Amino acid sequence: MGGDIHKGLEGVLVGESGLGKVDGENGALYYCGYIIDDIVEHASYEETVALLLDKELPEQTELDRVEETLRERRSIPAEVDTVLEGMADAQPMDALRTAVSMLAGHDDDPDDMDRARDKLLGIIAKVPTIIAAHERYNQGEEPVEPDPELGHAANFLYMLRGKAPGEREAEALDAALKLYAEHGMNASTFAGVVTVSTLANVYGAVTSAIAALQGPLHGGATETVIEMIEDVGGPDNAEDWVAGKLEAHEKIPGFGHRVYQVTDPRCQHFKAHIDRLPHEEYDEWIATIEAVREAVEEALGGKGIWPNTDLYSGTLYTMLDIPPRFDTAMFAMARVAGWSAHILEQLEDNRIMRPRVRYVGELDREWVPLTER
Ligand code: CMC
Repeated sequence: MGGDIHKGLEGVLVGESGLGKVDGENGALYYCGYIIDDIVEHASYEETVALLLDKELPEQTELDRVEETLRERRSIPAEVDTVLEGMADAQPMDALRTAVSMLAGHDDDPDDMDRARDKLLGIIAKVPTIIAAHERYNQGEEPVEPDPELGHAANFLYMLRGKAPGEREAEALDAALKLYAEHGMNASTFAGVVTVSTLANVYGAVTSAIAALQGPLHGGATETVIEMIEDVGGPDNAEDWVAGKLEAHEKIPGFGHRVYQVTDPRCQHFKAHIDRLPHEEYDEWIATIEAVREAVEEALGGKGIWPNTDLYSGTLYTMLDIPPRFDTAMFAMARVAGWSAHILEQLEDNRIMRPRVRYVGELDREWVPLTER
């Protein structure tokens, strides 16, 4: 078979989408035509979910309906809760992937694709409950029931801590969820789309997306940024630390992106929310991030390697008392909106994803009996 091979599918168009537009040249991000700066300033995460699923800003009645559905569907089946308790010591992403997959067993008709949107709203509602319940078990505590009076972000912090968060904390998490809600055809979204393109049900599709997000080249990078800042140990060490990594040809987490050739536009919003939270005890930490950023930009900016959003998001989560090992799960909690939107978009005009590879092995090899090998 002829044709060019696009390693990592770089530059390959697999379809059309009206969801996320990542403008890598100008450093801009749009959800359904609305620039991310407006989404962060004006919408809630719930409104962002409604926008992404329906590709239009919801009118008040539709927004009320989406908010109500998300509040009503937060509780998880007892069997899922039991499995989370049994997996208390597992990594959060392994627990989340298992629990979302199990939800199919608690749906009367998981394969009813006409109700895909409704089922996906149910998954979006439950992801925070799963993550919080697992963390509570990990800490040897009982899970906290969701509070229907609280919004999506505030309720997650409440379930995690057992007490309602402050307004600024809830706003900061709401912003983080919006900033990570959608990002075009990235690896995890593609995994979800590939799965649903076979007309497998939406629980399987979201489970595939969670699995793909877990790797350190994708969602796993946030956690490695936290390890990096600890390893650097202070702003004065940053230049030497970065030089050492580059000499060893190691990649620096939180930098570089397949699409952005400039700084990721979400970084400034994360920084603004970090600044708005009480941050005295994090001053040294933040100074270290900035020193690493300057050193990397100096060394690699000319090559198009600039900060990506993972450089800052882990710090925000840490300031919200969310442990670093939860960072990838936090990414999933936000991105489940984008996955869901792409899954629905794929179903609107589906064709099974079936690429090809160029076979480079031998042909017509002589069969050697087992006893003679
Ligand atoms: N530090 C040092 N060098 C880098 C980095 C980095 N973070 N990122 C890319 N490069 C260099 C890379 O070594 C290569 O150099 P050369 O051409 O000399 O071999 C060149 O830039 C191109 O890199 P690539 O790995 O071929 O680019 P890619 O598009 O395949 O990978 C990436 C993109 C994000 C996986 C990569 O930049 C990376 O590994 N970054 C660190 C991990 C990270 O922060 N990931 C989060 C990505 S943003 C959130 C998300 O999408 O999940």
